[in-house]
Amino acid sequence: MTPHHWLRWPAATTPAAGRGPLAFGADYNPEQWSRDTWREDVRLMREAGVNVVNLGIFAWATVQPAPDRYEWDVLDEAFELLHANGVAVDLGTGTASPPPWLTALHPEILPVTEDGQVLYPGGRQHWRPTSPVFRRYALGHVRAVAERYGSHPGLALWHVSNELGCHNVHDYSDDAATAFREWLRARYGSIDALNEAWATSFWSQRYSDWSQILPPRVAAAFRNPGQQLDFWRFSSDALRDYLQAEVAVLRELTPDVPITTNFMVMGGTKSMNYAEWRADVDVISNDHYLTAADADRYEELAFSAALVRGLARSRPWFLMEQSTSAVNWQPINPPKAPGQLARDSLTQLAYGADAISYFQWRQSAGGAEKFHSALVPHSGTDSRVWREVCELGAALSALTDVAGSTAAAGRVALLFDWEAWWAAELDSHPSERFRYRSVVFDWFKAFVDAGFAVDVQPVADDFSAYSLVVAPGLYLVNDETRRRITDYVAAGGHLVTTFFSGIVDDTDRVVLGGYPGVFRELLGIRVEEFGPLLDGEEVPVEGGGNGSLWADPVDVVAPEVEVLARYAGARAGAPVATRRPIGAGSASYVGARLDPATLRGLAARLAAAAGVEPDLDPSAAEHVLRRERHHDDSRYVFLLNRGDQPRTVKGESGFDVLAGRAVQDVVELPPYGAAVLRSPR
Ligand code: GAL
Repeated sequence: MTPHHWLRWPAATTPAAGRGPLAFGADYNPEQWSRDTWREDVRLMREAGVNVVNLGIFAWATVQPAPDRYEWDVLDEAFELLHANGVAVDLGTGTASPPPWLTALHPEILPVTEDGQVLYPGGRQHWRPTSPVFRRYALGHVRAVAERYGSHPGLALWHVSNELGCHNVHDYSDDAATAFREWLRARYGSIDALNEAWATSFWSQRYSDWSQILPPRVAAAFRNPGQQLDFWRFSSDALRDYLQAEVAVLRELTPDVPITTNFMVMGGTKSMNYAEWRADVDVISNDHYLTAADADRYEELAFSAALVRGLARSRPWFLMEQSTSAVNWQPINPPKAPGQLARDSLTQLAYGADAISYFQWRQSAGGAEKFHSALVPHSGTDSRVWREVCELGAALSALTDVAGSTAAAGRVALLFDWEAWWAAELDSHPSERFRYRSVVFDWFKAFVDAGFAVDVQPVADDFSAYSLVVAPGLYLVNDETRRRITDYVAAGGHLVTTFFSGIVDDTDRVVLGGYPGVFRELLGIRVEEFGPLLDGEEVPVEGGGNGSLWADPVDVVAPEVEVLARYAGARAGAPVATRRPIGAGSASYVGARLDPATLRGLAARLAAAAGVEPDLDPSAAEHVLRRERHHDDSRYVFLLNRGDQPRTVKGESGFDVLAGRAVQDVVELPPYGAAVLRSPR
């Protein structure tokens, strides 16, 4: 099969240059509306510049109302109407939510929680990833859909299921128990090896037969950490195995149609190891929703986009879902501010998205998501949201030439790892407050605030070209990563790591001799006891800042280690941050969670010491985000206003594509505004 990197555009849509267009669209659910509304829908899609929709995502019960009956008319007619109006289709396999007849016939497909509660139908995604019965029906359905639409000229992309793992990734059912045992057998080979890896000599947990092993269901005391960590790994693998099963059917029937499934790189979603999953799809897709109560929600969006860029290896990717305005599923759901809709999408574009899509096209009148915003809101097209949707469509059309360009790399990389995340947040630890993603995010924001283009890279990817590599809170480090990091520093690279990094190997066993065992020698320091802080406790540092969450007592061991920052107050003089020069490179340690201003200053110093200059006018850095995309012959500089005040950025020139005029040295950005400057390369 030919590897696909992008959508299969219908012939009529592809411009002569062959690069574009950028895709613009939404989830489209015609099954919720009348045919009259469909006709209005396609007219409005043309008006807004929508050129792709995600169809049939939850259409299983519509097209297969009974086990032996298919009724294709809704999908057939909607597909034809879209095609006739120049709208390509990202077609859902439709398996995310099983129809009521299936769960009535086979209640044994329903997932079970860790405390034995069955998750009943009535919501969605109520299926066990490991259920052979669910798989038989679901794959049968995928086959039927692929046979029906696989050769349709309007089919641009397959969309497997929807947000795999959104509600059902951790299933503790008997099917899961059986599959977990098989997975463990394949991983360990012998029960002795498993006992060793799980340290089962502790608390009389030694297994004598595979059949005794269960998923980590609710227990009387702390559950075995090896069992828990492996269950996180297994659960990600089990869903991935399901993804692969759908992909296999699609590849068999339609080898030329690219395949995606929408990832959820956002907020606290941590169960799916997307660094592994990405190998199974042709196009990386992501869904991103802002957390309204998070003061740093815009920077979190940028962080997520940076990680998706890393997963996509800087090739174009699909921003599958986001909201035009409010969502319905947070405790309080305020609308977006004027201008935010386009700014948020252009930010995704800046990090390499070539498709900007939303949930959903038309705001539902009924059902659980009726208060979730859409492109066509309840109030209709005489609305701010609709006007902003049309403005975004026009902006994407002006930016057509960006399509296919590379999301350029920065010189600073943050390493990110799902296994380290899972392991770091297990129970029975020095602090339950440690949140891996927040610890990495602190560094992202610090570098962004200091004006650096910072990338977020899956730990398994090659980071040797970066001038500065930061591995915050990387609690679990396997032998391979340890070797690669050590080699990077030996070759002149600059490494920074922090508290609760390099503590355990990949079986969650502590590397002995003092913390952080994995990196202790490299860093030339030693931590005898962890320094978790109580809620609200702060430890002052010299220069007026403070540490919270964590403040390790650091002993300097190697004589050449420089102390970059020290505690004040009761711990006055003790090192907070250290740097050990190693040949042309260095290894630095930051033992506390520093307040944002102190961390920003430290990040800038560490970058300067690694020879990295800021990418953005420092006076604008705290308020503006800057990223570049490149074609061989041209460069696009994205400048994005992070807030609600107008901002001026100095030192940037080029042709402002959105404004349609050249700018020289000074760019003015309105609140939530964006500029994209094109220049030759
Ligand atoms: C996603 C999901 C969509 C819709 C959306 C609402 O999780 O894929 O179907 O529910 O959230 O924000």
